[in-house]
Amino acid sequence: MENKFVNLITSRVSCRAYLSKRVPLKKVQAVAEAGKYAPSARNRQIINIYVVKSENKVEELRNLSLEILERDCMHGVKTIILVAGPRGDDYTDIDGSCSLENMFLAAHALGLGSCWINQFDRLLQSDKGSKIKKSFGIPENFKIVGACALGYIKEGISLEIKERKADFINFI
Ligand SMILES: Cc1cc2nc3c(=O)[nH]c(=O)nc-3n(C[C@H](O)[C@H](O)[C@H](O)COP(=O)(O)O)c2cc1C
Repeated sequence: MENKFVNLITSRVSCRAYLSKRVPLKKVQAVAEAGKYAPSARNRQIINIYVVKSENKVEELRNLSLEILERDCMHGVKTIILVAGPRGDDYTDIDGSCSLENMFLAAHALGLGSCWINQFDRLLQSDKGSKIKKSFGIPENFKIVGACALGYIKEGISLEIKERKADFINFI
């Protein structure tokens, strides 16, 4: 069935190469709003979204990744949105994932590239990382579910939709 929104969903791909041009705040806000309006179990709204847009703060995260992982897990992006919620709550990961997916789709709708970045829970538990986490105002008992790297897609790279396995959908 042809539908604009369904087509948008099925054409989203993860982006791992970005332009150095920064995304304007209005677009970043629109993406974060999409994350905010994701469903949440029993409408508890236990997760928070932390938009890291300050150049210095993004660099702090990049340097942390370079130091601990010996690579830039953010793929050179200039804006990163962290999604976090109470560690140990059964719904933190689930609610957080709903929020992240909403943001990936909103990014795609706005012509931006995005990618889930998974390393920040670990990185922000290191000595240096926990200081950064505190400086962002993220409560100590919050786990980072994931992060949305957000940026303009680098010219000349081809983002291909990955083939899905044949038996993905089953009608019973
Ligand atoms: C829970 C989860 C964790 C992921 N972590 C990372 C990551 O740390 N770095 C990365 O580049 N991509 C990460 N991805 C993106 C996946 O690699 C990507 O979604 C998958 O290869 C399918 O490609 P597509 O998003 O283009 O359809 C993650 C995706 C999910 C759902």
